[in-house]
Amino acid sequence: MSAREEFDTWAADGRDKGMEDRHWHTAKHALARLPVEAGDTVLDLGTGSGYVLRALRETADIGRGYGLDASPEMLQNARSYTDDSSVGFLRGDFDALPFATDSVDHVFTMEAFYYATDPGHTLEEIRRILRPGGTVYCAVNYYEESEHTHHWQDNIAIEMTLWNRAEYRRAFRDAGLVVAEQDEIPDREVEIPPEAEFPTEDWESRAAMVDRYRTHGTLLTVGVAPA
Ligand SMILES: C[S@@+](CC[C@H](N)C(=O)[O-])C[C@H]1O[C@@H](n2cnc3c(N)ncnc32)[C@H](O)[C@@H]1O
Repeated sequence: MSAREEFDTWAADGRDKGMEDRHWHTAKHALARLPVEAGDTVLDLGTGSGYVLRALRETADIGRGYGLDASPEMLQNARSYTDDSSVGFLRGDFDALPFATDSVDHVFTMEAFYYATDPGHTLEEIRRILRPGGTVYCAVNYYEESEHTHHWQDNIAIEMTLWNRAEYRRAFRDAGLVVAEQDEIPDREVEIPPEAEFPTEDWESRAAMVDRYRTHGTLLTVGVAPA
């Protein structure tokens, strides 16, 4: 199954908004660190509902925001949530980013990068389109150290890349990006029930849920395009 087929189904049954609600818990902390200046151009890769660009337009006075996604249904939903003419949503694949070399100030991507067919090549594409000094903020919940996310691959037909922290850093460097920062952002907003309520429908033990949300949360790797 292609990313388009998979995520068109998600968008059609409203899961774009569900993701927005859940991902916002940690995405907002990553976004708050983005060194945006007024007028900057920002690309959100795998934009889903487009909430990242809506938030940046409200809080950071960005110039142009582009949301790229493989799923036309996701894009249709994203367009319906804003009438801001400075935000544009376009169909494309992580394999070939439809932007000129040195044309984008910041690339942000939340819970999408690991769907890239060739993630090393996607990083080279990001490096190509970033202006010197531009940044890429890559946030993922599915990664090696966060072991209670690993079963996600069983529920989706697209092959997902499971890298560890060091592999993210190495891949960024291999693509010509300087690794400026890497850390895990805990999700403190998901409510974790008391011990006596486990097992729940989704969780075998409280310890597993704590590990997933509080210990690991979202892995953020930040790269800078060298001058
Ligand atoms: C799990 S959703 C995350 C959406 C959003 N970033 C969020 O935080 O809620 C992943 C998104 O990436 C898109 N996507 C997956 N693989 C893609 C690819 N190869 N090229 C472009 N978009 C892709 C999907 O269509 C989907 O909208």
